[in-house]
Amino acid sequence: MNEQSLSVREAIVGRRSIKKFNGQPVDREDLLNIIDDAVWAPNHKNREPWRLVVACGKELFQLHDLLRDTAIPRWQDLSAEVLEKQMQKFTTPGAFVFVIVPEDVRQKQRLEDYAAASTFIHNIQLLAWDYGIGSCWKTPEYLDAPAFREAIGAKPGERIISMLQLGYFDELPKGKERKKSDEIVTIFGQKEENETLEDVIE
Ligand SMILES: Cc1cc2nc3c(=O)[nH]c(=O)nc-3n(C[C@H](O)[C@H](O)[C@H](O)COP(=O)(O)O)c2cc1C
Repeated sequence: MNEQSLSVREAIVGRRSIKKFNGQPVDREDLLNIIDDAVWAPNHKNREPWRLVVACGKELFQLHDLLRDTAIPRWQDLSAEVLEKQMQKFTTPGAFVFVIVPEDVRQKQRLEDYAAASTFIHNIQLLAWDYGIGSCWKTPEYLDAPAFREAIGAKPGERIISMLQLGYFDELPKGKERKKSDEIVTIFGQKEENETLEDVIE
């Protein structure tokens, strides 16, 4: 069991997406424990519409090669120094989690499954945060590229919805201010301020 223990509020409000990792390895057991807790996410009909492909230890090297070949065009033409710099966004996270969801042909089920998997991913991010592990949900275009899908092992009828990078970090980014409730909430039955009768009739 993880020694740290943030309150739910502390985890939600304090978590930030980490885009700069310090290269410290992530323990596989910690990651699997996080995943085993994160699966308690809400999901309709208990379909548990997710499966994960994880790279966390020595398999990271093979993944780095795949990411290099996929994400850095003509990497062979770059100097070793420039390539190393460009590769840092892939080599510094301690773990990668690719989240794969079924793409149900029925729109309702497909949306539900994506929504459920999103709550699952957020659970992973919050639980990781409690371990002191930062994360960033990434959706680069190449997640849908056939060669990349094949290398990850996504089957027809499945979609890779997230490349989750996880790892330790030295700097906590400042979060962008969020809108407050008075900007996003309308009390049921009340007219919005500045709304004219014509707006309501329209
Ligand atoms: C569905 C989704 C896709 C995202 N894709 C990317 C991405 O491709 N690259 C990236 O740097 N951040 C990505 N993010 C992270 C957001 O940039 C980040 O959540 C946002 O800036 C708010 O910052 P915070 O998470 O620290 O509150 C994504 C987040 C979500 C939920």
